[in-house]
Amino acid sequence: MDAVECIKTRMSIRKFKPEPVPKKVLLNIIDAAKRSPSYKNTQPWEVAIVSGAKKDELSKILIELFEKGEKTSPDIPEPLSWTPNMEMRIKELFRKRSERFGIDFSDPEYIKKAKKANFRFYGAPHGIFLFQDASLPQWSLFDIGLFAQSLMLAAHASGLGTVPQAFLTDYAGAVKEFLGIPESKRLVLGISIGRPDLEDKTNSFRTDRVDSSEIVKWIE
Ligand SMILES: Cc1cc2nc3c(=O)[nH]c(=O)nc-3n(C[C@H](O)[C@H](O)[C@H](O)COP(=O)(O)O)c2cc1C
Repeated sequence: MDAVECIKTRMSIRKFKPEPVPKKVLLNIIDAAKRSPSYKNTQPWEVAIVSGAKKDELSKILIELFEKGEKTSPDIPEPLSWTPNMEMRIKELFRKRSERFGIDFSDPEYIKKAKKANFRFYGAPHGIFLFQDASLPQWSLFDIGLFAQSLMLAAHASGLGTVPQAFLTDYAGAVKEFLGIPESKRLVLGISIGRPDLEDKTNSFRTDRVDSSEIVKWIE
């Protein structure tokens, strides 16, 4: 698969086969992601990969915090507002998903179920957590975003599926404590990774993108 095809066919996977991915394969993906560009080659990314019984234990902790109504405290604050065009895109995403799967996004039971599925890593055999020193500037956050996309593309090129998950950072303190990551680090993102279950209906939904004319300005 060439690079453009890889970019265009990657999608968020929300149902995985449970079999673990060999460490060597995961390491190859990290090795590829490490080639991402960064401001002055600072490489401001650190990675923790949780698997097996440890992953299940972490899921249990996160679900318990959620069920007891613990206030979320992500290191990167949850967005409070969007620009009107982005609000529209979110609405459109929800409308299409609701149309396809018959989901009622205003149903608190659905929201609960969806959050718990996130905390269960959507059944993936591994969870990858990306973090960096909390003192780093905004450029470093930008850089770790590039790393995340490279990682997801390398995974896709290796026949694996991924989904980036802000929800996995909801209880950042608990995640860092469990993974042995110092408090001085900023937990940026969780990514579930594994073999995609392509038979599952969840993975048949493709998100849209706006027309390029909405985002590109030509000056000539
Ligand atoms: C920073 C970030 C956070 C995200 N958080 C979540 C999440 O918590 N749970 C989830 O199911 N998907 C999450 N997503 C996936 C997006 O919903 C998805 O990328 C978007 O709808 C586009 O779909 P695609 O990835 O299939 O192209 C996140 C994506 C990004 C980039």
